[in-house]
Amino acid sequence: MTRKDFIVNTCALCASATGMAALLGSCTLSHYISGTLNKDGLILSRDEFKIMQKGNTAYRSFIIVRNDALKFPVCVYRINDTEYSALWMQCTHQGAELQASGDVLQCPAHGSEFNNRGHIRSGPANTSLRTFPVTISNNELFIDLRK
Ligand code: FES
Repeated sequence: MTRKDFIVNTCALCASATGMAALLGSCTLSHYISGTLNKDGLILSRDEFKIMQKGNTAYRSFIIVRNDALKFPVCVYRINDTEYSALWMQCTHQGAELQASGDVLQCPAHGSEFNNRGHIRSGPANTSLRTFPVTISNNELFIDLRK
């Protein structure tokens, strides 16, 4: 093996290991559920946001509802215990599916970014995301998909 081959092969291995680590990291951070779909919207338990950390209760900042009956997933952000936002994960630029990363939704197609309320952080998209009203009843969230 030449020195050049060694460097090329080593860099390729490092790049794939780094990519795999990022992929695994993003998988463990995102929590996917299907929710319960009725004719008006989605129902999910607020317990989906709970995680136990060293014996204490903590909360995920978002969960992703991916349901076969929906063309795109819905990202539900927990702003606080009484406020949630539900965002249609379709980019308003040219319609690509968005990816959630913390409090930001990113578009893999051309780089638009949206905050956890669906407002534009950076273009080329120039329209906010479609959002849905969220109401809390007991320990459940109802996401009204009619609007
Ligand atoms: S489709 Fe999302 S930025 Fe172009």
